Amino acid sequence: MNQHLTARQLTDIANEFGTPVYVYHAEKIAEQYQKLKSAFRESDTVFFYACKALTNVNILKYLRSLGACLDCSSINEVKIGLLAGFSPQKILYTSNGIAFDEIEEARNAGVHINIDSLSNLEKFGKKYGHGYPVGIRLRPNILAGGNLKISTGHDKSKFGIPVEQLDKVLTLVEKYDLFIRDLHIHTGSDIKDVDIFVKGIEVLFDIIPHFKELEFIDLGGGFKVPYKSGDAETDIPLLAKKVKEAFANHPNPNGRPLQIWFEPGKFLVSECGYFITQVNVMKETPGLTFAGVNSGFNHLIRPMFYDAYHQIENISNLNGAENIYTVVGNICETDTFASGRKIREIREGDFLVFYNAGAYGFEMSSNFNSRLKPAEVMVKDGKASLIRRREVFDDLLRNQVMSDQ
Ligand code: LLP
Repeated sequence: MNQHLTARQLTDIANEFGTPVYVYHAEKIAEQYQKLKSAFRESDTVFFYACKALTNVNILKYLRSLGACLDCSSINEVKIGLLAGFSPQKILYTSNGIAFDEIEEARNAGVHINIDSLSNLEKFGKKYGHGYPVGIRLRPNILAGGNLKISTGHDKSKFGIPVEQLDKVLTLVEKYDLFIRDLHIHTGSDIKDVDIFVKGIEVLFDIIPHFKELEFIDLGGGFKVPYKSGDAETDIPLLAKKVKEAFANHPNPNGRPLQIWFEPGKFLVSECGYFITQVNVMKETPGLTFAGVNSGFNHLIRPMFYDAYHQIENISNLNGAENIYTVVGNICETDTFASGRKIREIREGDFLVFYNAGAYGFEMSSNFNSRLKPAEVMVKDGKASLIRRREVFDDLLRNQVMSDQ
């Protein structure tokens, strides 16, 4: 929501690259990264960018240039990370519900691995024993996050090994002489309350003494960002203070100070992103005025999927009178971006910008209705560059196999 690019810059980009288009402002990413680094400067803390939020290789390269490490949720993200120049030691692969051969691939790539099931932990033990360090993702049974769909640490969640199964973990560790290097928890996304993180750490403090070779504690991601004015972001300096205090009060019984890892996605890239659309159709109906844009939930699914709020601004009529609109997409299904929204007078042809579009925007887009995915543009040092071409019709057919009938 703390937008840095001006309406003029965004309009120029829309005119130059066409719409719909995702735009990412590099310096905003740097600003967010620096907030984290500076808040945690007194602790031994490492930040792994959770690239599921936005995997464009240029964004990854930029984060690497800032000094960030990378958190991946699939082997393909690992491969993109390697392509972006991250060394394997700076890549973390937090797997979830995957076939063991993908873990083997990650092992062969030499990256850090977090395992989230007893089944894969056993396979890992059988194959590698003490020979390759590994982390364990635990489920702390804490309810956290903006809504249930993005809450991952509660007692009905599929993620991680429930902490009450610690004895089973320990049996496997002993049986296969596993080298457990980190414990991981991630309780959800959009977590405003820093005490949730502290609660998670407290759950871990009871478990840490069982693992003699621990080097890191991985507290996942989930920091909240503001979506509208008056919205709060997670108080990162307060979090840093509380985390530091918690670890000072619970020194590792094994003597070795534990490094702290975080995996922020949204915090780093949500606010850097702008999604520019153009208004195709204005429709006055009794009761509602619809503004229909040249996009839909195929490009930005968050409002329909999570009821997420994205601020919308009419950058083509900055001084127009404000009216109430329902902003909709062009998908053949209910496709509402915003209801009852106060926006400066909208006319056909105007550019509407959606803020907070960097995280889980393009990344969750699809070709539903056989529509093409948008272009992506990155603005750095005041210069806008295309970092993903807009799809063309042939992209829709590229993998289809035309039968003879
Ligand atoms: N680490 C793990 C293991 C995760 O599963 C996630 C997000 C993160 C880190 C990063 O969380 P973040 O800092 O971005 O909140 N598509 C949803 C968010 C889903 C998050 C999934 N996991 C949305 O658009 O709100």
